[in-house]
Amino acid sequence: MAIKTMEDLFLHELSDTYSAEKQMSKALPRLAKAVENEQLAAAFEAHLEETLVQIERIEQVADALGLKLKRIKCEAMEGLVEEAKDIISSIDAGPVRDAALIGGAQQVEHYEIASYGTLCALARQLGHSEALELLEVSLEEEKATDVKLTEMAESGANQKAAAA
Ligand SMILES: [Fe+2]
Ligand SMILES: [Fe+2]
Repeated sequence: MAIKTMEDLFLHELSDTYSAEKQMSKALPRLAKAVENEQLAAAFEAHLEETLVQIERIEQVADALGLKLKRIKCEAMEGLVEEAKDIISSIDAGPVRDAALIGGAQQVEHYEIASYGTLCALARQLGHSEALELLEVSLEEEKATDVKLTEMAESGANQKAAAA
């Protein structure tokens, strides 16, 4: 379907983010297993739980608006997940890999923050207030995850990696 209107664009972005979240829900258990830092593994597991709810939230947005999500693949997330896999295959388990995966996970969070930020702006413009409320919850969760990852990097993970 061609994208001609703001409504089309909203559905496209919503479907793309749905694909991104689904891909991330599959990647997070792998990331949690690949890190040595237990606090970091727990953060990835906690974000998996959030991600599963975010997937449902997108379904709720579509339902509220009577939209059918399109089956598209988010290629950006595919690339980000691919890079995380490259980190795992090219760096041995330990603090350096942990530091690399914190960075990789933050790239994902920044991508998601941009996606939800765009969706919120579109929902606001289109007057979809119920959708906006739901999307804002996910946006805040992504921002909080990003902050948590920064804190972990700065409160020891990078220091350990530098000493490795
Ligand atoms: Fe997410
Ligand atoms: Fe996220």
